[in-house]
Order: sequence, then structure tokens, then C-alpha cells
Amino acid sequence: MLRPSRERGAHLLALRLRFLVAADQLGLLPAGLLGHVVRTAERKGDADVGRLGEFCAALLDRRRQHRIPGLVRIAAMDEDGLPAARALRRTAAEGLGELCQQAAQQARKGTGSYYTPRWVADLVAKECVRGLLDARKCGPEAASSLRTLDPAAGAGALLIAIVDAVADAVGEGEGSNDVRCAVVRRCLTGYELDPLAAEACRLSLWLVASRPGRPAVVPARAILVRDTLADPPPRRRYDIVIGNPPWGVQLAAGHADGLAASFPDALGGHRDSFLFFLALAAEAVRSDGALAMVLPDAVLSQVRYEGIRRLLLHRFRPLRLDRLGKEPFPRATAPACALCMIGRRIAPSSYPVSDLRQARVSDHGTRTRTWHALRDAPLTAAHHSFVTPPPQLGQILSELGARHRTLGESADVFRFHDSGINYPNADLGRSILYTGRRQHPSDVPITRGRDFLPLTRPERSRRAAAGSSSRSAGSGQAWLRHDWQRRVGPTSGVSVREDLYRAAPKLLLRQTGDRPVATIDRQGVHFGRSVIAVTGRSEDELLWLAAVMNSSTFGALYRTMVPEAGRPFAQVKVNKLKLVPLPPVGEDHALAELARQVLRETDEERRRALLAEIDERVARAYGLSSSAREYLAALAGPAPAGVARRMQHGGTS
Ligand SMILES: C[S@@+](CC[C@H](N)C(=O)[O-])C[C@H]1O[C@@H](n2cnc3c(N)ncnc32)[C@H](O)[C@@H]1O
Repeated sequence: MLRPSRERGAHLLALRLRFLVAADQLGLLPAGLLGHVVRTAERKGDADVGRLGEFCAALLDRRRQHRIPGLVRIAAMDEDGLPAARALRRTAAEGLGELCQQAAQQARKGTGSYYTPRWVADLVAKECVRGLLDARKCGPEAASSLRTLDPAAGAGALLIAIVDAVADAVGEGEGSNDVRCAVVRRCLTGYELDPLAAEACRLSLWLVASRPGRPAVVPARAILVRDTLADPPPRRRYDIVIGNPPWGVQLAAGHADGLAASFPDALGGHRDSFLFFLALAAEAVRSDGALAMVLPDAVLSQVRYEGIRRLLLHRFRPLRLDRLGKEPFPRATAPACALCMIGRRIAPSSYPVSDLRQARVSDHGTRTRTWHALRDAPLTAAHHSFVTPPPQLGQILSELGARHRTLGESADVFRFHDSGINYPNADLGRSILYTGRRQHPSDVPITRGRDFLPLTRPERSRRAAAGSSSRSAGSGQAWLRHDWQRRVGPTSGVSVREDLYRAAPKLLLRQTGDRPVATIDRQGVHFGRSVIAVTGRSEDELLWLAAVMNSSTFGALYRTMVPEAGRPFAQVKVNKLKLVPLPPVGEDHALAELARQVLRETDEERRRALLAEIDERVARAYGLSSSAREYLAALAGPAPAGVARRMQHGGTS
């Protein structure tokens, strides 16, 4: 049996020779060179591992090529080598990866180092590059400057996939390697603990980016031998962070303690290595970047990983989720998934899920894969799960979905208008709007989202503000200047929809919040951009809708679609609202009458009692069992805060 150092030496020798053989087969070495190198290695035995290493390193760096013996100058090679087809180059690189994986398995059992197969790497890399370009609304040429980090690079499977994905996006064909060279030279960073794997990564990148006569340069600074947990990557630096970090390895107490303390909520005392990598990776991505990780499937929904999901969802939205099962990593103990996420501010609102867990995979010839399911998955609020809701919620949702139309399907009855007073920049906003005491008798009061609560009358705040002589009353009231048009001019981009504001009755919906808050405007108030208006066929139907929207059932259903509970600036999303099932419109007339009573009521206790009655009736209208009602009430959380205080003081409601 080999001693560890000899084992390592043997692996290094094998790695370097394999690289040279691959490079030779791809036409990247001058004729006769490989034979010369092998003969020298044979003559000198293990001692030549270092020389071979120097030789390989020189190949990667044009400035060092003069150290290659004899007449060999890679830059001088002509184009007549073998066609360095992409598949061949990738296969060669994979060979180096396999060798590293074997070495890692022999040297260190249970390190969680399962190298990523090519089809998974390609799937994830393509999604990141394409998704990011789409979300940023950039042309394909922007792909070649995306900066990518893999914090556990291994032999480079994912970085190589990024190189190919970028070349594909830009449309680089087989005849050229300019884009690949540029990406490898300027855009990639990999951290890797194992020096053998780091070397394999550099050599693999060289193989995939070089062409006969046009060798790539792999800068030494690109792939670093470095412990990511001890020496984390810089924050918010990269456009893409991609990785398949080690998982299933419990970090020993003492190791990464500092990191655990930096993410106490996200890690929640758990010490699986992948959690640390995931938290650091999320930190390293720019706010308009993409994060793609191959992870244990359990992270998607298990309650103990809620903390890390919260951390991720705070900054990102899912772009795509692939549930991979155990096929890609047969030796791993748990099924895997590939999760691609994208910065919240540029992200799409829904994402496709593919489920390969029950897929039939044939490895003969071309791989065929049956996609078990591919659908747009709404995130579920319960435990911030990325996938299927807990069984009880799943059952409630599917029953309601089967029984009722959605709000969006009632477009013939209700129309949404995201038409609050809007302006393209803060200066223009300041020139037409102000808050405090009315400065001119013709200035118009503005209702903002914060000015009303479930079924409180929006015009009350206006009266309070206009009629008050005290300094404090009305101090928070917003006003639109009567001469706003003169102040900004017709091409300023300011939007004031007088026609819509004058329309009454209309339903007003707060835009800020993690569940809907609705009231009815009977006077025709102007409203700001923190309000969405809904118009309908009759006042009764609008009252009915306001009753339903304020109910805890509707609130809970909405929250299952948009898990924004607790976020400081949560926003009600119209496209998500439209997915919520609705009981038959107007069927329970009593709901409209109850809503009318709440609007009139100023006594807080009586209001509460009426709202509770509405809750009951809405649950009945949905046809919910009492256990389902309780379950949803818990999910909806408390009614919007501040009802008591605001109503008692009667001021700004
Ligand atoms: C699961 S492998 C994945 C490698 C590669 N990214 C791929 O997808 O094929 C994880 C890699 O992380 C490396 N690794 C483990 N702990 C590390 C650490 N603290 N810092 C940097 N790399 C580490 C291992 O050596 C291994 O090569």
C-alpha cells in the first residue's frame, strides 16, 4: 500500500500525464512532445512529477512558455491539429475531474466531495447566464464580462460549464475560442482546498478554452488553493456564484465558529458544511446577480433549514429549481437539487420546477430524461418552503382550486388599476406633493396606503387634516399641489389619473404589507402610488370583495403565494393576488352589508366583532371545514397592526 505522500505523488503524476495525453489528442501539443515528456518521466521516475508540474504550469501561462524545452512554442503552433471539438475537450476535462474525485475518496473518506456530472453543470450554468441576461435586459455580448465565483471549485466542472454557457450565449462557434479565452483569463475565480483539485481545475480550464495554435491563459490568481470558510470571498463582488459545496459533512465545533456567529439565524445551530458555503456564497453575489447551488434536496422544505431559506429569500428569488433525486450523485447519502436564484430587484415572480426524482434515465447513447413535472411554482409561505406546501395546506389549496375561480378569472367583474400619482424621480415628486398642513385651499388631499385600515373610510383623514387647527393633527397628511401641471410640464412623466380618482365607489388596496388590506372609497379620493384601486360593476360587489380580501382566509391564501411575512418593505403583488381562489362573487349578500356596517362603525370593539363575523362568513363561503379554518387563521397571522390605536384617536383613519 502506498504511503499518503507517495499516493499523492502518484495521483499528481497521473493527473499531469492524463492532461498531456488529452492535450495531445486535442492537437494542442506539438508533434513528438508527449513522447519526449513520457520518456523523460519514465527515466526519472517520481522525481519528475515536479518537472511535469512546471511543464503543465508553463503551458497555462504564455509568459512562461519559454521554459518549455526545445523548440516548443505553443503560440507558434498552426491550426492543423485535430479538430478540438467541444465534446472532446469536455470529456478530457471530465477525466481529470474523475481522477481528482478518486484521489479525494482515497485520501479522505466522507468529505462530501461529489463532483458534478456534466449535464447537471450545464443545466445550472446555462440557467444562470441566460436568466441573468434576461433579467438585466442585456444583449448576449454582456455574457462575456460576467464575473463568476465557485467557492468549492473542485476540478472545475461548474466553471467549465459557465465558460461553455457564455460561449453559447455569445454564439461562439467551434472555429473560434476568443470568448472562451477571455472568460477564462478575466472572469473566473475558484477557491479550492485541495491543491490536486485546484491544479486539475486550471488544467481543465486550459483544455476547454484552448484551440490548436491558440492556447488559453489561465492566470494563477484565477484558481486559488484556499479554505473558503477560513478566508471567505469578498462580499457583493460577483455576477454569478455557482457551486456544489461539500455537503453531509458536519463541521467540528471550533471550525468556522466565527462564521456560525455571523449567521446565527440562518444556520440555527446546524453545522452541515453546505450551509456555511451557501451563506457565504449568498453574501458574495451582487444584488443584481445570480446564485446557483447544487444542494441536498432537504434544504428546500425541511423546517430545520428555514433559517437559510429566509436568508436566501431576503435577497433572491428562485429562478429555477431542479429536483435531481439521487441519480447524479449515486454515492451520496441524500437526494440532491439544483437551485438557481436571482437578485430580488431584477427577478421574475415565478419559476419553473423540474422534478427528476422519478425520472427514467437511460445512459445508453444520448441521455434521455423524462421530466416528471415542470411547472411554475409559487413559493409557499409556510416555513418559507421552496416546494410543495405542507400536506394539510396542499390539500386545502387543491380543494379550493378545484372548487373556485381565482380572483384573476373574475376580470369581467373587477379591474385592477395600479395608477396612484406617480413620478419618475424624487425631485419631481417633491415639486408636486408635500405633507403637513395644507398650503393652498385648492391643494388636493392624497390618500396613501398607510392612511387606511380594513374598511375604514379614507376621506376621514382628509377631513381631519383640512379641518384641524392644531399643529399635530394633519401633520402627516399628503397633498397634491393644485398647480402641479404648471410645475412639471406635459413631458415630465408625472402621472395623475384624475378620471380614476374621481370615480366612486372604488376599492382601495394598500400596496405595502404582507397581506391585503382593503377599504371602499365612496367620495372619489386622490391616491398615491402606495395604493392600488379596483373598480367593479356595483358598490355591493366591491364591498363584498373588500370583505373577502380583509378576511383571514384570503390573507392566508395570499401569504401562501407570497411569503413576505415579516419583511420590512413587503409589497402586495397584483399578479399574485389574482392567483388566489375566490368564493362565488356576491353570492353571500350579507358580506356586503357587513362591510357597509364596518365602514360606518367607529367603535373599535364593534368593528372587531363585525370583522370577526366577516371572517366566519368568508370561511363558510369558501366551504372550509373548521380545522382548515383554524389552520388558515394561524397562517394569516394577526390582523394589520394599529387598528385599535388609530380608530380610538380617529385621526388619520
Ligand atoms: C462536491 S465537490 C464539488 C467540486 C466542483 N465544484 C464540482 O461541482 O464538481 C466540493 C469541493 O469543495 C472542496 N472543499 C471542501 N472544503 C473546502 C473549503 N473549506 N474551502 C474550499 N474548498 C473546499 C473539496 O475539496 C471539493 O473539491
